[in-house]
Amino acid sequence: MVPFPATVGGVAVLLLTGSTGMVGREILARAVAEQRYDEILCVIRPGSSGADDRLTDLMHRSGVTGRNVRAVAGDVTEPGLGVQAADRRRITHVIHGAASVAFDLPPAEARRINVGGTRNVLDLCSGLPQLERLDAVSTCYVAGRRQGLVYEQDLVHACGFHNTYELSKYEAEEVLRSRMRDLPIAVHRPSIVVGDSRTGATGAWKVLYWPLKVIARGRLPVIPYDPDCRLDIVPVDFVASAILALAADAGTVGGTFHLAAGPGRDTTTGELFPQIFRALDRRPPVRVPPAVFRRFVRPALQAVPSSRMRRTLRAGLVYRPYLELRVRFDTAQADAALAGTGVTCPRVVDYMDTIVRAALESDFGARG
Ligand SMILES: NC(=O)c1ccc[n+]([C@@H]2O[C@H](COP(=O)([O-])OP(=O)(O)OC[C@H]3O[C@@H](n4cnc5c(N)ncnc54)[C@H](OP(=O)(O)O)[C@@H]3O)[C@@H](O)[C@H]2O)c1
Repeated sequence: MVPFPATVGGVAVLLLTGSTGMVGREILARAVAEQRYDEILCVIRPGSSGADDRLTDLMHRSGVTGRNVRAVAGDVTEPGLGVQAADRRRITHVIHGAASVAFDLPPAEARRINVGGTRNVLDLCSGLPQLERLDAVSTCYVAGRRQGLVYEQDLVHACGFHNTYELSKYEAEEVLRSRMRDLPIAVHRPSIVVGDSRTGATGAWKVLYWPLKVIARGRLPVIPYDPDCRLDIVPVDFVASAILALAADAGTVGGTFHLAAGPGRDTTTGELFPQIFRALDRRPPVRVPPAVFRRFVRPALQAVPSSRMRRTLRAGLVYRPYLELRVRFDTAQADAALAGTGVTCPRVVDYMDTIVRAALESDFGARG
């Protein structure tokens, strides 16, 4: 590994992608609150309101105040990401969190955003004269259909994937690893991210929140799961704090880190679901083994003359594999690197009631 230039004049300038997302907005809020960087440039797609207005709105909603945060109108699928030459000369740190987390994109579209976007970030980084490091956000589920304990250095496997999201993030990690020889890269793999462990607050209502909502609204009378399915869930405050702490440690360059609960703090559907049903204060849906659901229950429910039921069944398809998982994520390297930083991952059973309460109070985001 060649030595990388230290921050010139001690000025740290962060380029952050994905700042409007669930994880990125938490990284931004914490980076500002902890004054980790002298300046933060957020690559934001302009959308209909413009990148500046989106950033202003985001900071307002997140309660973030800081004059050293600026929007860069851009898109990770475009070479250069919209970053101008004057900024390129000054950027010292990059955190790449932008991605599509949709499970059901066609492969080419998932690759365009997640693999192509990562390539564009890497190419940009290659031309940054002051770059100290790139921290890329991946996912534990690059493990795809693997079973058993997965280690942080593991990547390559031939077990296949549950969806194009996992596949495209796997391929993005392959690209990241191929560039680790010439760029100072660390890879961070969160597992399943939910809201803040202390308040339940979240900037996005997806992944685990969809099944929660379906159960809370009584939309499915039966739910297919295997009670021994391993669930690895982490709160967004832990994920953001861990990424920032690891990004501040020169010793983490070249590493891959499971930002996961891991054995001992992860759980099973058999343990967590009854807790969720109690917290939702609803009669639990009937549990059926996934194979029985596929063979008998789903066809029967599809025959029910209700378009809402059919919509729910269709939308639920992408979540079903996650109710049959037999995979666990070793966190030894993340634990070692985070030791002494004060950043630790709580057990999901200790904060799930808070997550459910916050979801119900805001009606899954409908009450703003
Ligand atoms: N959420 C989870 O449970 C979870 C678990 C493991 C890993 N991760 C990883 O964590 C990272 C962040 O995920 P998230 O949950 O925060 O996702 P998210 O809430 O869907 O946010 C995605 C972010 O990426 C941005 N983005 C998407 N396409 C873009 C493009 N072409 N150009 C620029 N920005 C683009 C989005 O911007 P717009 O606002 O313009 O759409 C948004 O800021 C991802 O790398 C994901 O793979 C997430």
